[in-house]
Amino acid sequence: MTAKIIDGKALAEKVRGRIADEVAALKVKGITPGLAVVLVGDDPASQVYVRNKVAACEKVGMKSVMHRMPATASEAELLSVVQTLNNDATIHGILVQLPLPKQIDEKKVLEAIAVDKDVDGFHAENVGALTIGEPRFVSCTPAGCMEMLADIGMKDLRGKHAVVVGRSNIVGKPMALLLLHANATVTICHSGTKDLAAITRQADILVAAVGRPRFIKGNMIKSDAVVLDVGINRLPIEQGGGLVGDVDFESAKEVASYITPVPGGVGPMTITMLLQNTLVAARAADY
Ligand code: GUN
Repeated sequence: MTAKIIDGKALAEKVRGRIADEVAALKVKGITPGLAVVLVGDDPASQVYVRNKVAACEKVGMKSVMHRMPATASEAELLSVVQTLNNDATIHGILVQLPLPKQIDEKKVLEAIAVDKDVDGFHAENVGALTIGEPRFVSCTPAGCMEMLADIGMKDLRGKHAVVVGRSNIVGKPMALLLLHANATVTICHSGTKDLAAITRQADILVAAVGRPRFIKGNMIKSDAVVLDVGINRLPIEQGGGLVGDVDFESAKEVASYITPVPGGVGPMTITMLLQNTLVAARAADY
C-alpha cells in the first residue's frame, strides 16, 4: 500500500484563509497584528526562513518588521533591540531567529522576550505553561504537527503509541508534551537510544525531528503508521542539492498509512502556527 500524503501546503492555505479573515476583523477595531522578526548574521537557511515568515505575514494582512543585525552584533545590542520591541505597542509578536552567533547567549535572549509577545513559545514561562497542560504560546512546529493530525481525524490519541525521535527544545520536547496531552502514550528517542528501530517500529505515530537526511527508513516504520517528517535537510550539490526530510520518503511511503512530504509538509504549517500565535497575541491587546 502507498501512504496518503498529508498536504501541509493545502492545510496551511485553508488555515491562513481563516487567519486572514480574523486579521481583517481586528483591523476594523483599529488593531493590526504586528510581528517583528530579528535575524542576526547571514546564515543562508535562516535568511530563507525569515523571508518566508515575513511574506506570510503580509499575505494575511499582518504588519511585519524585519530587523537585520550583523553576525558580529553583541549580546547587549540584541537585548536592546528586543527591549525596544517589547515596549512597542504596534508589535504583538517577537521572533529572534535561531541559531544565534556564538558570542550571544541564546537562553538570555529568549528569556528577554516579553512572555505575552513570545510567539515562538520558547520562553521558559510558556514552556512551563505547556508542561502543566495550560498552553499559551506553543512552539510552532509541534503545534503545526498536531493540526495535521487533527486534520486526518486524529485528535484524541488514546491508545496510540507516539514515538518522537529528537529531543530539542524547539520540536522534540514540546511535541512529546502535546502528544501526551492528547492522551497518546509517548516515547522520546535520541542519539543515546539503544536499538532505535525496535522502538520506532512500535509507533502508531512517528515524528522524526533529528536533523539527519533520510535517517528513518521504511524498515523502521510499523505498517500503517502515521509519519510526520519535521526534517529540512539540504543535500550536498553532488547529491542533487535538493531538500529532503529526516525520513526516507520513498521507502517510508510503502509502509505508512499517512506521511508528510518534504517540502510541502510540516514546513508550511510551522509558519501558519506563527501567524496564529501572532493573531492570538494581537487579540489579547484588544482591550
Ligand atoms: N530556527 C529554526 N526553527 C526556528 C523557529 O521555529 N523559531 C526560531 N526563532 N528560530 C528557528
